[in-house]
Amino acid sequence: MDSIIVRGNGELNGQIPIAGAKNACLTLMPATLLSEEPLTLTNAPRLSDIRTMTELLSSLGAEVSTLQDGKVLAMSSHNLDNHVADYDIVRKMRASNLVLGPMLARLGQAVVSLPGGCAIGTRPMDLHEKGLMALGAEIELKEGYLHAKVPGGLKGAVIDLDFPSVGATENIMMAATLAKGTTVLNNAAREPEIVDLATCLRSMDAQIDGDGTSRIEIQGVDRLHGATHPVVTDRIELGTYMLAPAICGGEVECLGGSISLVGSFCEKLDAAGIHVEETANGLKVARRGGRVKAVDVVTEPFPGFPTDLQAQMMALMCTAEGTSVLEEKIFENRFMHAPELMRMGANIEVHGGTATVHGVERLKGAPVMATDLRASVSLILAAMAAEGETIVNRVYHLDRGYERVEEKLGNLGAHIERVQS
Ligand code: EPZ
Repeated sequence: MDSIIVRGNGELNGQIPIAGAKNACLTLMPATLLSEEPLTLTNAPRLSDIRTMTELLSSLGAEVSTLQDGKVLAMSSHNLDNHVADYDIVRKMRASNLVLGPMLARLGQAVVSLPGGCAIGTRPMDLHEKGLMALGAEIELKEGYLHAKVPGGLKGAVIDLDFPSVGATENIMMAATLAKGTTVLNNAAREPEIVDLATCLRSMDAQIDGDGTSRIEIQGVDRLHGATHPVVTDRIELGTYMLAPAICGGEVECLGGSISLVGSFCEKLDAAGIHVEETANGLKVARRGGRVKAVDVVTEPFPGFPTDLQAQMMALMCTAEGTSVLEEKIFENRFMHAPELMRMGANIEVHGGTATVHGVERLKGAPVMATDLRASVSLILAAMAAEGETIVNRVYHLDRGYERVEEKLGNLGAHIERVQS
């Protein structure tokens, strides 16, 4: 099992390329199931989660070819021969549940394993099920699998989501593209990944309006066609790397970044005294001297502060001047990084969904344990500004969402290496 060793090494400077978005690619890939014609994704990220989705789609009979060093995914589902998404694949990655809607729409039936437990929360699928049942699906849970079928085909409906769930919005939107009539999805998620999915579906001749707002309208069509679609920039990788110069000092240009993807996050960086500006190639982030100021954060659905940047923001607040309060409103158990940061000398109190961080002068290196994807990268960020050496264990979590971390951060001047342990 790999570990990553980091030695604090002062300021970071230079340019860092931001990849295509994991959370967009993981919903774009299942869209291939909606059509017999090929769907090609460009600017795809090279991550273990993408390989897991490839494995899942292949198990359903889709063909997925990885081209151009993994940046292009050429997919075709003209010959689907299986409608069961197996537990052995689904338990590795929850986003596997995004094949449910497309399979129902295309094949009229789907059997999808429930993903099971997750480190950051219970994460049920009730909103997915309610939405698809509103479109006419019959869904039953048997031995850990959702058995779904839709005799007579999906029919458009008005659906009010209890919570703007990203996954439920994506599953329902994909299913509704091939339903008879019009579907209106109220209180829909507004994340950029939703807009990217809708843009791709429109290029496949779907009829969708309102993506990016809370009300999405989908006019069903008989069939979808092939297309080629560039995956949107990864706003979470972007935010993560914007924090590297914020934590260590220096100036870094994040290539491919834009403020529109991380607006509320930039407001917090500005309040903390971090300079952010758009450039011709992306976003420049700089901190020269002086300590970061403590700021409070509440995680919310987009366009609010993203929960996927909460752990990384906590790493910044560990050495801020003053006390900050971070409220996690999306997931019920997303402070697993706090005790690991405390092993590095951070001063944090956690009560339920609220963490209070009392800034300290400097963190100290220590062996720490990654518990989930975003927690793992927050430990790497903290380690780059800490005194001495930190060993981050279980970095397989990291590889799910960050490609070539050592190379990208090493190019900015970080002392970082991967070791087999
Ligand atoms: C997506 O997960 C992302 N994953 C998550 O990123 C991200 O944290 C999350 O959206 C919120 O932004 C992917 O896109 C693959 P939700 P998703 O449905 O779709 C509850 C990362 O680090 N809920 O919006 O699963 C749920 O329990 C990952 O890259 C229900 O109660 O998120 C949670 O508390 C982690 N019932 C909240 O809603 C449902 O049917 C938000 O979940 C669905 C969700």
